[in-house]
Amino acid sequence: MPDTDPTPTAPGGGLIPAPLSIDGPGRGTVRLGQDTALATGPGTEGTARWLRATLGEAFGLPLPPGPGPAAHTLALGLDPALPPEGYRLAADARRGVRITGGGPAGVFWGAQTLRQLLGPQAFRRAPLAPGQEPALPPLTVEDAPRFGWRGMLLDVARHFLPKDGVLRCLDLLAAHKLNVLHLHLTDDQGWRIEIRRYPKLTGTGAWRERTKLGHRASPLWDERPHGGYYTQDDIREIVAYAAQRHITVVPEIDIPGHSQAAIAAYPALGNTDVVDTTSLKVWDTWGVSPNVLAPTDSTLRFYEHVLDEVLALFPSPFVHIGGDECPKDQWRASATAQARIAELSLAGEDGLQSWFIRHFDRWLTARGRRLIGWDEILEGGLAEGAAVASWRGRAGGVAAAKSGHDVVMCPEQQVYLDHRQHPSPDEPVPIGFVRTLEDVYRFEPVPTELTPEQAAHVLGTQANVWTEVMDSQQRLDYQVFPRLAAFAEVAWSRLPAPAERDYQDLTRRMAVHYTRLDALGVGYRPPGGPLPWQKRPGVLGRPIDGAPPNV
Ligand code: ACM
Repeated sequence: MPDTDPTPTAPGGGLIPAPLSIDGPGRGTVRLGQDTALATGPGTEGTARWLRATLGEAFGLPLPPGPGPAAHTLALGLDPALPPEGYRLAADARRGVRITGGGPAGVFWGAQTLRQLLGPQAFRRAPLAPGQEPALPPLTVEDAPRFGWRGMLLDVARHFLPKDGVLRCLDLLAAHKLNVLHLHLTDDQGWRIEIRRYPKLTGTGAWRERTKLGHRASPLWDERPHGGYYTQDDIREIVAYAAQRHITVVPEIDIPGHSQAAIAAYPALGNTDVVDTTSLKVWDTWGVSPNVLAPTDSTLRFYEHVLDEVLALFPSPFVHIGGDECPKDQWRASATAQARIAELSLAGEDGLQSWFIRHFDRWLTARGRRLIGWDEILEGGLAEGAAVASWRGRAGGVAAAKSGHDVVMCPEQQVYLDHRQHPSPDEPVPIGFVRTLEDVYRFEPVPTELTPEQAAHVLGTQANVWTEVMDSQQRLDYQVFPRLAAFAEVAWSRLPAPAERDYQDLTRRMAVHYTRLDALGVGYRPPGGPLPWQKRPGVLGRPIDGAPPNV
């Protein structure tokens, strides 16, 4: 489709994610021009600001405050009869354009639909020529999301993504009607958030001397330092930018495993009776470090202090405390850990893991927040109010939902976007299972074995983007897109059962969507395979068939 053609050609206007219903498109066009006024009401001011900024950049539209004559008015309003994130968008040559949301978020998602209907130029940051006036076909769209948690995890620990990249990511999530950014802020390979009380967490923990190239068995390192972190002001800005887009940023501070960067900064956090933690460095390889937190009161106090600062920065109702992949070898060998197990009559090392999680479940609950953790937190008994992010398949999510706990489904078999998209050795990120755009489209977040009552505990779903081998924006774009578009439809739209999903229809709409991603400058994986510059450089090592993730 030529970039100047404002008419979406595919059925349904090429909208992604697909809305609940579209009445139209009718004949003719509805134009927005220099004289189009923007009428707002209470609760729509944020979307009005966003529309002025976005359509102002793309088309030079001033959108003065309205209303003007109906045919020249873009009107925003609320209708509490609609679901809070639902909206109705009506475009008519005589009556103008009206977006009505059940709440402020619904109006914003309606504005995202309007942007898609205005053609790819609406995704540019400056007009290609003066005087372009956008248009959309006459139609009425009724829409509301299936799930309230439509997320993406971004791992900024393995490779730091500078703040600009996070803001760009939030824009891309918003364009796909996704509303949760789960920021994986800490891991063995880096600590990425300023904590005022413990400056060495970033002074030492945000930097590693070198980085393993390729999977963990590779013999190669890049031999150059890597690192970075977000100041507390950066975090405030990220959270505010997200809030303007009706996106919640869920912080993750991963304990008690995946903690080597923190131990390198503060050696007393580690199992000092087993290893000399004073010689530990921020980890320079992939996999799961054996260096985990010591189960002591002082470790708990340390992380309470960390979380005090985290809570002050992130208004998210949920705080993610990790809990995944905690090797128990050091606890087995540690007299301190064994004494704690005996003292508290815990069920071995798994009980110690639950002891950590239960402590922070109570601690967060007392502060009006809720704990979410990876499905390993089921081992040794689930803390009372905890929600589970089910990543090792669906079993954790099923068990949690059956026992009345809330769940976010993110099984690695289907929605880990670090996994390769094709078996070809040309794939730039040659890890994990092959998961194509179609595989992601056929992901069903609600396990069929759940009763409707249990299924109500499925808050939603998220795609996880681990960055061991994504060291640049280009690599990220390639892995995340186009699959995030199919994922967004899974999270938002009411699709039939996986086998009945119309992948051909998605493909037709994706043809339109690629022109939007092109206008945005997203370096997605083209349908025909990687472009020469996107191909895998030889240094990344041989792809490993059937390898587990994160290698
Ligand atoms: C995970 O992939 N370790 C949650």
